[in-house]
Amino acid sequence: MKKLLLTCAIASLTLLTATNCLAQGQAEVNYSPIKVETPARPAGQKDVINLVTPKLDTVRVGFIGLGMRGPGAVSRWTKIPGTKIVALCDLRPECVTRSQAILKKAGLPAAAEYSGTEDAWKKLCERKDIDLVYIATDWKHHAEMGVYAMEHGKHVAIEVPAAMTLDEIWKLIDTSERTRMHCMQLENCVYDFFELTSLNMAQKGLFGEVLHVEGSYIHNLEDFWRQYWNNWRMDYNRSHRGDVYATHGIGPACQVLNIHRGDRMKTLVSMDTKAVNGPAFIKKTTGEEVKDFQNGDQTSTLIRTEKGRTMLIQHNVMTPRPYSRMYQIVGTDGYASKYPIEEYCLRPSQVDPNEIPNHENLNAHGSVSPTVKKALMEQYKHPITKELEETAKKVGGHGGMDYIMDYRLVYCLRNGLPLDMDVYDLAEWCSMAELTRISIQHGSAPVEVPDFTRGHWNDQQGFHHAFAK
Ligand SMILES: NC(=O)c1ccc[n+]([C@@H]2O[C@H](COP(=O)([O-])OP(=O)(O)OC[C@H]3O[C@@H](n4cnc5c(N)ncnc54)[C@H](O)[C@@H]3O)[C@@H](O)[C@H]2O)c1
Repeated sequence: MKKLLLTCAIASLTLLTATNCLAQGQAEVNYSPIKVETPARPAGQKDVINLVTPKLDTVRVGFIGLGMRGPGAVSRWTKIPGTKIVALCDLRPECVTRSQAILKKAGLPAAAEYSGTEDAWKKLCERKDIDLVYIATDWKHHAEMGVYAMEHGKHVAIEVPAAMTLDEIWKLIDTSERTRMHCMQLENCVYDFFELTSLNMAQKGLFGEVLHVEGSYIHNLEDFWRQYWNNWRMDYNRSHRGDVYATHGIGPACQVLNIHRGDRMKTLVSMDTKAVNGPAFIKKTTGEEVKDFQNGDQTSTLIRTEKGRTMLIQHNVMTPRPYSRMYQIVGTDGYASKYPIEEYCLRPSQVDPNEIPNHENLNAHGSVSPTVKKALMEQYKHPITKELEETAKKVGGHGGMDYIMDYRLVYCLRNGLPLDMDVYDLAEWCSMAELTRISIQHGSAPVEVPDFTRGHWNDQQGFHHAFAK
């Protein structure tokens, strides 16, 4: 009997391998990933790829959510030319007062105030003198606020993650497509200096063909948990399994891989560890014994793209680890890494010996020297960094990237250009929360990533930032 089983196993293995070697270069058996529904695009509705809207002379903004993150944005906007801060909203009146003080300090007039009730923000969205609603509340409010603001003729910029479920994501997509209003996620990490420079290098072919990119959000939040309004963040982790905060890691990775600009995420598999430090933190701080804490201390997700490239995305906000967003680019001819140490590794053939010093010391199995790295980073400095680095570092916000993000949003709106990140970026990056949960809950089975563009992922070739002529 044992022999029979073994023979059958060998026979079927041979058959499967043979079948699939014939089917394509790399052997693969037929399998069915878990599919999630892609709702049909409503009749008469068009995609918003490269959406442009009429130029705005002044971008008039209203802010909702002025807790830890919001006031920094208010402060940055006081320093961006061509803007007017019209209204401020937070459930808690003291938060609005705190942001009014920022305006006063900057010598600006006081903004209209909305506060005190759960839906005071609706009145802000209904104003006729606002072009953009900037949302920095807890995660559960984001999508509802974004949809309502667009329905009232406003562009929206929503903090990360802008949506937590596929249902919320499709609502934001459908509303943006129907209203023709911009819906951008405020993903700041795509504007950090090393990321912009390395993106430029990748686009210029320095790493050869990019095959694999890693990104992560590894940040031990134990000093922060108790500072969130109403304990919303720990509560969310307590009740949701999966990578609930993927955008900082996946955003820069998707830009390098030109996702929905010539490639698309096709399937993912995800795995988490058991939840240890989350329930332990609750026990330590409240005495409560939690038996059903959902979010694993470490969640790791592998994604395969249509064009046979991969991404590894990690989430860990629980254990002592040095802060890391990974940002590692693996190409056929080179490598970039931001964390744990900033480094490049390149074949000597990839650089011009007349432009890069010590070229003869390059090899394909060690980092380039600090001098070569400095020269490379100078040579490949992104045009956006060239223009904004000095001011961004002065204004600050995570070292300057927050300022660049806000500045670019205003710049594109004022010049009638497509925004750097569209609603499909938002969708792809935010979809990780639900798709990774589905995979994990099915024994890490492959899950199909929906084509949020509904058929247009290959219309554009290559990711790029728009500039006024
Ligand atoms: N991009 C980044 O680097 C970065 C950094 C920190 C936080 N964030 C994001 O910013 C957002 C806010 O985070 P935070 O740290 O400021 O949280 P927080 O808890 O400090 O602030 C949330 C605020 O939302 C307000 N709020 C809740 N319900 C409201 C309602 N119905 N109407 C008006 N206001 C309401 C609360 O009163 C609170 O002031 C989150 O999405 C978070 O993920 C992003």
